[in-house]
Amino acid sequence: MKIFVTGHTSGIGKACFDMLSPLYDVNGGSRRTGWDVANSENYSDVIDCDVLINNAHHHIGQLELLKYVYKHWQNKSKTIINIGSAGKDLLRNRPLERLDYNVSKKALETYSFWICENDKFCRSMMYNPGFVDTPLVRQGFDKWPKEEQDHVLSRKMDAKDCAEAILFMIQSKHTIKELTHSH
Ligand SMILES: NC(=O)c1ccc[n+]([C@@H]2O[C@H](COP(=O)([O-])OP(=O)(O)OC[C@H]3O[C@@H](n4cnc5c(N)ncnc54)[C@H](OP(=O)(O)O)[C@@H]3O)[C@@H](O)[C@H]2O)c1
Repeated sequence: MKIFVTGHTSGIGKACFDMLSPLYDVNGGSRRTGWDVANSENYSDVIDCDVLINNAHHHIGQLELLKYVYKHWQNKSKTIINIGSAGKDLLRNRPLERLDYNVSKKALETYSFWICENDKFCRSMMYNPGFVDTPLVRQGFDKWPKEEQDHVLSRKMDAKDCAEAILFMIQSKHTIKELTHSH
């Protein structure tokens, strides 16, 4: 089985890459290896794989990648794991400048749910991590309200926990619409 992981050089993507590589034929793409999800010319690299872990977040890049891949994988026996966020619905006190993140994850989720409910062969599943201490979430973290910082730190997950859950989703014979950790 061939797997493509976007954002495979840090955090959740790296944990997936490291855990899956001894088991499957795994390739990855990150900007530091010359693969940018913001550049649609890269998307064709995924097509001859069986599984996409749509992990790297960049504006609407995850949605664009999902749409492109699904055009080729429609009604085929393929698996897409989209990395959303357990915090996608947390809007109260959310700074307006961070709302684009929620919007992009909700759009990704809507598209994935549509595939899930309409395609009998291609599995598209949402995996929504809780708080994992990575460079991405540390951006601007010190500006979060102290109470929220304490709350998420008390529930901190390891990226390996996420990789284990993703491995479970890939190996399941069923379609798991979404798997969401508590935030
Ligand atoms: N950490 C959390 O608490 C948390 C919670 C909920 C959801 N998530 C989601 O989990 C996913 C992974 O986040 P993470 O926390 O593991 O982040 P991370 O540790 O900062 O890693 C991000 C990875 O994505 C790559 N990347 C970033 N921008 C990219 C781009 N434009 N094109 C290709 N690759 C790109 C990075 O490599 P380069 O810099 O080399 O490109 C790196 O390999 C994201 O979708 C995020 O929204 C994370």
